[in-house]
Amino acid sequence: MINTLGQLDQLSSKYLYIHTFGCQMNDRESEQMIALMSAAGYERTSRLQKADLIILNTCSIRQKADQKVYSELGRFRELKEANPELVIAVGGCLAQQRGHEIFKKAPQVDVVFGTRNIHRLPELVAEAAKTGAKLVATSLPERIESLSIATVPPPGRVGAYVTIMQGCNNFCSYCVVPNLRGREISRPAGEIVSEIRALAANGIREVTLLGQNVNSYEAKDEAAGDFAGLLQEIDGVEGVERIRFTTSHPKDLSERLIDSFGRLTKLCEHIHLPVQSGSDFVLRGMNRNYTAEIYATKVAALRRACPGISVTSDMIVGFPGESDEDFQKTIDLMEKIRFDNLFSFAYSEREGTKAATFKDRVPEVVKRERLRTLQSLQEAHTLEKNKRFEGKVEEVLVEAASKKSSADLMGRTRTNRIVNFTGDGRLTGKTVSVRIKEAFLHSLRGEIDGVTAC
Ligand code: 5AD
Ligand code: SF4
Repeated sequence: MINTLGQLDQLSSKYLYIHTFGCQMNDRESEQMIALMSAAGYERTSRLQKADLIILNTCSIRQKADQKVYSELGRFRELKEANPELVIAVGGCLAQQRGHEIFKKAPQVDVVFGTRNIHRLPELVAEAAKTGAKLVATSLPERIESLSIATVPPPGRVGAYVTIMQGCNNFCSYCVVPNLRGREISRPAGEIVSEIRALAANGIREVTLLGQNVNSYEAKDEAAGDFAGLLQEIDGVEGVERIRFTTSHPKDLSERLIDSFGRLTKLCEHIHLPVQSGSDFVLRGMNRNYTAEIYATKVAALRRACPGISVTSDMIVGFPGESDEDFQKTIDLMEKIRFDNLFSFAYSEREGTKAATFKDRVPEVVKRERLRTLQSLQEAHTLEKNKRFEGKVEEVLVEAASKKSSADLMGRTRTNRIVNFTGDGRLTGKTVSVRIKEAFLHSLRGEIDGVTAC
């Protein structure tokens, strides 16, 4: 066993540089890639020049994400020319989608590995290093072997991601994810709970459960049964203080799950519930299987079960056929729901999706204008919601020293708002009562009122 970083330094002669694009699922998978390559003798470095292996874990959900990956790859061309022994591996969604094509656009790449081939990374890297061959692994087998690769959190880490399911059966017409991550697969509940117990034993206080559509989690032949059952089991794990999850599809938001918010003490009062549009016509075109009214009814039920719950969402503007009236319906829904926060995107056409065949495209200038209107409205709503916390005492789980000032700590409220306040670094991992003095758009500022739990 290698116990200390000192020993690791001496033993390891190879360095890994990794860059992650995209979502939390990719962040989690990068942790697994680091763990796999560390077992194969690679130590992580943040210095590109030092790397023997470069991994890009990519995203392809919107066209911009694609472009960012290729421009990053461009930076590596000279490095590869100067050091032909360097191995460059591209994983994630873009790798899954493009396969061999990546070599044509970026001949400096050695290995392309898809979303269900992460477990093969060490073997592929070793072969590429030995033979200099160009290797591609983009099969989509029914079993995802990497789902059960557990990792040990680094010292001082407070929160951890835990993947509970992967893939998607929904086929929203704009979305490339089902093509790139395959059909839904749920992990056994027992395996998830064991992983969370181990994380808690390693000091983790908050777990975020990940899946493209966690609501359709299904623990076959196990007591946990559905997602609400799984949450209940995790609620009983000693040492875990907070549970979060992402992402939920509104059509699958069950009454049992809504009730869980009022019932399970560790489940944080926050739900990310992407709505995508406020127009029923657009929602139909997107194949979302709910109307704006059904969505609003579900949010009302959540707010009844759990007053003060924070509701955040995703919105797409400029979907094919979206008229000014449709866009106004999105604005109307925003006024009605008043989201705590919103991630908004201009529709981006993705190859292989149904919407890519739709006529009546919205011009880019119109998309940009709609995005601006929507974002300035949301900023007003977010600020107004944050301002309501001024003068209140909030339970804050301390995550780390603040990036801006070494005397400050950064933590989050249960509703997922960032709070900065002055305090001792030894409070990291503890829950602190903080009186909120001032609210901003992206964070709150407060003062310690007391330490509520250890
Ligand atoms: N164009 C724009 N936004 C998209 N999203 C997914 N696919 C597209 C696309 N083709 C957004 C959705 C989703 C979020 C993760 O990304 O809002 O919820
Ligand atoms: Fe994409 Fe829709 Fe599946 Fe989300 S639910 S991953 S938007 S297809």
